[in-house]
Amino acid sequence: MSDTFYITTPIYYPNADPHLGHVYTTIAADTLARFHRLRGDETWFLTGTDEHGIKMVKSAAALNVEPGVLSDRVAAVFRDLWKELKITNDDFIRTTEPRHKVGVSRIVEKLVANGDIYLGAYEGWYDEGQEEFVTETDAKAHEYKSAISGRPLTRYKESTYFFKLSKYVPRVLEYIEAHPGFVQPESRRNEVLSKLRAGVDDLSISRATLKWGIAMPNDPQHTVYVWIDALSNYITALGHGSADDALMKKFWPANVHLIGKDILWFHAVYWPAMLLALGLEPPRVVLAHGWFTTDGRKQSKSLGNFIDLEKLRTKIATYGLDALRYFLLRTTTFGADPDWSDADFAKAYKELKNVVGNCLNRLLVMVGKYRNGVLPAAGPAEDIDRHLIEQTRGFGEQIERAYARFELQQCAMLPVELARAVNGYIDATEPFKLQKDPAKKERLDTILNLSAQAVYQVLLGLLPILPEKAAEGLRQLNAPIEGKTLPQLFATNLAAGHQTGAPHGLFPDVLEKPA
Ligand code: MSP
Repeated sequence: MSDTFYITTPIYYPNADPHLGHVYTTIAADTLARFHRLRGDETWFLTGTDEHGIKMVKSAAALNVEPGVLSDRVAAVFRDLWKELKITNDDFIRTTEPRHKVGVSRIVEKLVANGDIYLGAYEGWYDEGQEEFVTETDAKAHEYKSAISGRPLTRYKESTYFFKLSKYVPRVLEYIEAHPGFVQPESRRNEVLSKLRAGVDDLSISRATLKWGIAMPNDPQHTVYVWIDALSNYITALGHGSADDALMKKFWPANVHLIGKDILWFHAVYWPAMLLALGLEPPRVVLAHGWFTTDGRKQSKSLGNFIDLEKLRTKIATYGLDALRYFLLRTTTFGADPDWSDADFAKAYKELKNVVGNCLNRLLVMVGKYRNGVLPAAGPAEDIDRHLIEQTRGFGEQIERAYARFELQQCAMLPVELARAVNGYIDATEPFKLQKDPAKKERLDTILNLSAQAVYQVLLGLLPILPEKAAEGLRQLNAPIEGKTLPQLFATNLAAGHQTGAPHGLFPDVLEKPA
């Protein structure tokens, strides 16, 4: 059954070059987008850059340039990086674009017209790195430093417009309670619920002292708070409030906002409250992933364990892009904090090479050598065959379920586990011995046929995770996928008489230069 599927990443601050954190979120979103496209769903995948706010102003000042100069420069780096990493986003929104600025003005105008915005005064703490207001209790608990960066909090005291968040909190609470899948994973949902139940103040949504941003339409002396500006991107990019809102009609509500755990509160509370105030539906799922550590320690520039673009590019040059994707998704249960380790990266590559590459290679070599590259029909099944047949038959559904639950680690590992089963099956049935005995011809046919069906499923299952390698493997198997959806392909068997291609190692030996 085909559906629409709208997935977003956070829009990133272009105040400094992208790093592993951005790449991780974007690759995870890309994998989900690719799966849904293959599934036949009409898919829209959005990413972009969040260019306003005090953080941008300060980073620009430190470099002695205007904020707009910095954001133009770094937004281009993000855009080019996604091309380099073959990310399949359908759109890239910059919050400095007219379409977004106009969209945000319309949104704020509507909130003003509804009576959800009033002028007041704010006094309190602000985390400039996170662009986040911090309560006295939380500020005190972290000794008036940022819980994320450790940098001192700033004291703000100014006249500001407030959004009547407290008016919408009961409805947001009700929504989260009634929709167990809205905030995932479950542990994070509980954190949000308990913080919400403790009570939430109205939200300061304008800054009179900051000029780099979108002017409040009702009072241009004030600038819209960067998070109100940023969250709106998910609908301004679809043309909400503009003359051309066909995408909005087709794709809203979003199926998934994929984010890091540090920005969950904005997405699980502020954003649905804004949407309710606008008379729009909240997104279906806000999915928060964990934060990467390096060798078990928090990543930081000062510790020298920060995984930057240069490091990522070295890995890609050595192991290939697909290996990076596989390692990132395979390393941890999705949602938990993943860990970067060079040894684990090398291990993940070896797994692809020794398990997936190897089983495809063995199959193609045997069909080539014993049957001239023509896949024989299967004869009667024995117990050991039945086991593999069952694993192969249930595979497509297992993959479908894992994606439906956003279990990206499973999505990466299930095909590899099936490949491992094929290797075990070949080891146990010993086709290389059978081929010497003409009386075992039918038995050998069966083994070749069943192995081929399983390898076919493995490669199909890997398409969203290893787009290049899986497609290359399918080419070697000579099994084109064009014109069919993934569920249709999963339900297909390679026919007897199918001509297979020649094997070329999918995962070459790599020599990693010592660091
Ligand atoms: N601009 C806001 C998002 C606005 S969305 C309406 C923002 N930008 S960011 O560039 O700072 O971060 C973007 C994402 O990168 C966040 O989801 C954050 O969790 C993620 N990561 C930053 N460092 C990370 C790790 N070390 N590991 C994993 N992800 C991390 O926040």
